[in-house]
Amino acid sequence: MRNLIFEAESNSVSLNFLKEASEVTNSLSDNVKYCVIADAKVLSMHPSFKNQLLEKNCSIFEINEPEKQKNIETFSEIIAFMQKNNMNRNDCLIGFGGGAVTDLTGFVASSYMRGIKYFQIPTSLLAQVDASIGGKTGINFGHIKNFVGSFYNPTQVFICAAFLKTLNDQEFLNGFSEVIKHSIITSKESLEELKSTSQKILVKDTDTLLKCIEESIQIKAQIVAEDFKEKGARKYLNFGHTFAHGIESANHKDPIFHGHAVIIGMLMALKYAKELGFLPEDSYELARNAIDHFNYDFSNIELDAEVIFEAMKSDKKNTEKINLVLLKDIGCPFIYEENSNENLKQYIKKFINEFEK
Ligand SMILES: NC(=O)c1ccc[n+]([C@@H]2O[C@H](COP(=O)([O-])OP(=O)(O)OC[C@H]3O[C@@H](n4cnc5c(N)ncnc54)[C@H](O)[C@@H]3O)[C@@H](O)[C@H]2O)c1
Repeated sequence: MRNLIFEAESNSVSLNFLKEASEVTNSLSDNVKYCVIADAKVLSMHPSFKNQLLEKNCSIFEINEPEKQKNIETFSEIIAFMQKNNMNRNDCLIGFGGGAVTDLTGFVASSYMRGIKYFQIPTSLLAQVDASIGGKTGINFGHIKNFVGSFYNPTQVFICAAFLKTLNDQEFLNGFSEVIKHSIITSKESLEELKSTSQKILVKDTDTLLKCIEESIQIKAQIVAEDFKEKGARKYLNFGHTFAHGIESANHKDPIFHGHAVIIGMLMALKYAKELGFLPEDSYELARNAIDHFNYDFSNIELDAEVIFEAMKSDKKNTEKINLVLLKDIGCPFIYEENSNENLKQYIKKFINEFEK
C-alpha cells in the first residue's frame, strides 16, 4: 500500500493506493462505528469485500442506480438510516461506488450533525481520478445536476485497483478521459508516458494502472490544494468541458458517456487553439495522437453545431461571453474569452464537418 497526503483548505486528505480489496478493510479500525453508503450492484460484484465490511460491523445502506437516486429523497433516507443506527459525530461515513455515490456520501457527511468524518472508496475510474478528489460534494435537484452541494473533504480515500476489474470497458474509458485531460494540461512528458503505456492501461495491468492513477490524482490534488474554491487554476480542470456540455445537451434524448463527450470537447479545444494561433502544430498532433491510442468509440454521438453552440451559451459557468480553457502549449492552459460568438459557431460547424467518428 502506498500512501500520499495532500492538504486542501487546512484539511489533510490521506490517499491510499492499494491492489487488493482486503487491504481496504484491514485499514478500518475495530473501535470506530462505520456506516457505508454503497452502490448495490458494485457490492454484489465484490461479495467477499461485503463480508469483510460486515465483519467490521459496518452498517450498509445500499443504493440501486445511484445516479437516479442522487437526490434529496435518498439524502433524507440516509440521514434517517444513520440516525436509527445512532451514528454520531465521532463515527465515520464511507462512500463505496462510482461518482454518484461518492458525491452523495460527501454531501451527507458535510451536513449530518453539522459535519461528520468520512472516507471514500471510489470504484469507477472516474470517481478514483476525479469525483472523490477535491472535496466537491453534491446531489441533483429537479433536472439540474449537482445543484445542491458543498465543499467538504474526506479524511481518507482508498484507491483500490481490484475494483476496476469489474468495470466495463466503456465505463473505464469514460473515466480515462479525465486522466488524459490531466496530462494535457500538465506536460508533454506526462502525455508521452500515457501513449507509451496505453496497451498495458487498456488491459488494466495493475501496476501500470495504479502508477498512472496516482500520477493523475497528484495533478488534480495539487491544483485543488492551490485553489480549493475554484477561483483560479482549478478552472483549468474544465479543459474540454464547455464543448463537452454542449455535446451532451445535443444528445440528451439518448444520453452518452460524459467522458466520451469530454474527449471530443478536448479535440475541439485543441484544434481551436491551433487555428487561433496559440497552440503549435506539433503539440496539437502529440495530443491528438495520444488520444487515438485509446480507441474511443464515438459512433453513437450526435454532433449538431447549432444545439452545441446554444448549450454552450447557456452554460451556468458562462455569463455574457463564452469562456473557454485553451492551450498555449501542452501543459500551458489559459482562459480565453470568446469575443466573436459567430466565429466560434462557424468553427464548431467546420470541426463537425471534418470530424471522423
Ligand atoms: N465531485 C466531483 O468533483 C465530481 C467530478 C466528476 C464527476 N462527478 C459526479 O460523478 C458522477 C459520475 O461518476 P461515475 O461515472 O462513476 O458514475 P456512477 O456512480 O453512476 O457509476 C457509473 C456506472 O459504473 C458502475 N460501477 C461503478 N464502479 C463499478 C465497478 N467497480 N464495477 C462495475 N461497475 C461499476 C455503477 O454502478 C454505474 O452503473 C456524476 O454524478 C458526476 O456529477 C463529481
